[in-house]
Amino acid sequence: MLPESAEDFRTIWLNPDDHSVVQVIDQRKLPHDYSIHELRSWTDGVVAITEMTVRGAPLIGATAAWSLYLASLHGIAPEAEIRTAAAALLESRPTAVNLRWAVERVLARVDTASQDSDLVALTRLEAESICDEDIAICRGIGEHGLRLIEEISARKNGAPVNILTHCNAGSLATVNWGTATAPIYFAHQKGIAVHVWVDETRPRNQGSQLTAWELAANHVPHTLIVDNTGGHLMQHDKVDLVITGTDRTTRCADVANKIGTYLKALAATDNNIPFYVALPSTTIDWNSRDGILEIPIEERDPLELTETCGISNGKSICVRTVAPDTPVSNYAFDVTPARLVTGLITERGICSASEAGLLGLFPEMREI
Ligand code: MRU
Repeated sequence: MLPESAEDFRTIWLNPDDHSVVQVIDQRKLPHDYSIHELRSWTDGVVAITEMTVRGAPLIGATAAWSLYLASLHGIAPEAEIRTAAAALLESRPTAVNLRWAVERVLARVDTASQDSDLVALTRLEAESICDEDIAICRGIGEHGLRLIEEISARKNGAPVNILTHCNAGSLATVNWGTATAPIYFAHQKGIAVHVWVDETRPRNQGSQLTAWELAANHVPHTLIVDNTGGHLMQHDKVDLVITGTDRTTRCADVANKIGTYLKALAATDNNIPFYVALPSTTIDWNSRDGILEIPIEERDPLELTETCGISNGKSICVRTVAPDTPVSNYAFDVTPARLVTGLITERGICSASEAGLLGLFPEMREI
């Protein structure tokens, strides 16, 4: 059944009737088909992450946590199975740091087990906590980010606030609410007029296929644009605010996000438009400083560029759109240097895009 409001957009859960099955929304089929995909083993979890049945940094982390729970159901050597699964999960996608964070968190819980029979309950508890916390964190981001939208709305005397976003940092990328979308959903629910410019986000089209779909389902006014349109809109005063998500942000606030984010930040800076990044603290890599040098950038299958897929007469089809043998590079992410980011919206508040800003909100990370 299609969700009816932002509250109902949960993306991952344990099947209430069969605790050996984790269920997720199959994001490969959206927007044409809303269907539930079942994970029955940790290898299903790895494949779901690799093939982008689930995607988005926080949801990748949550899926990894539930995959470790599925590994714990292994009857013979559950702890060895969990550790094998953890190693495979860590390899599944390189850029989103939530994956490592979630795996390490579940493994820390596994270390507290005094016997194998504790493992199922412990991994389940941790996976559930990770999901519940993600929802609470996204709500926190929504509450803090709402202030930015309210201020712009007041300045515009209630005329719609035009927000540009890239990729899908929505409910579908998290357990619920999203990061970049949470302030938008909160504003919309409060009756503030908002309009979202949705970047198509080539080549996987997370904008046109996922963000546009979930904004429509939540009745948020939006318009789809090709990726290169943002600069033009900014020059013509049609963008008040940019909010994106991130897959990994360094302690110095360099931001890795979907390829093309950097160009939006450049255009926003040139046009004096605030460029904010919404992020849960689980996306901060406290061990890295220079994003361009230190963040691994995923390169994906050239087929994502050379083929275009969609629905024709009710059937899904993919067609080749470029000449055979055309050389292709398919970088999935880029890094926006902190100097181009106006601020970071976190669950603890909004801060400057700097180490000092982040440590002001997360002082417990000073010594790391
Ligand atoms: O390749 P994807 O679809 O996993 O990339 C997702 C993004 O780049 C999102 O913007 C990011 O994960 C932030 S999600 C809250």
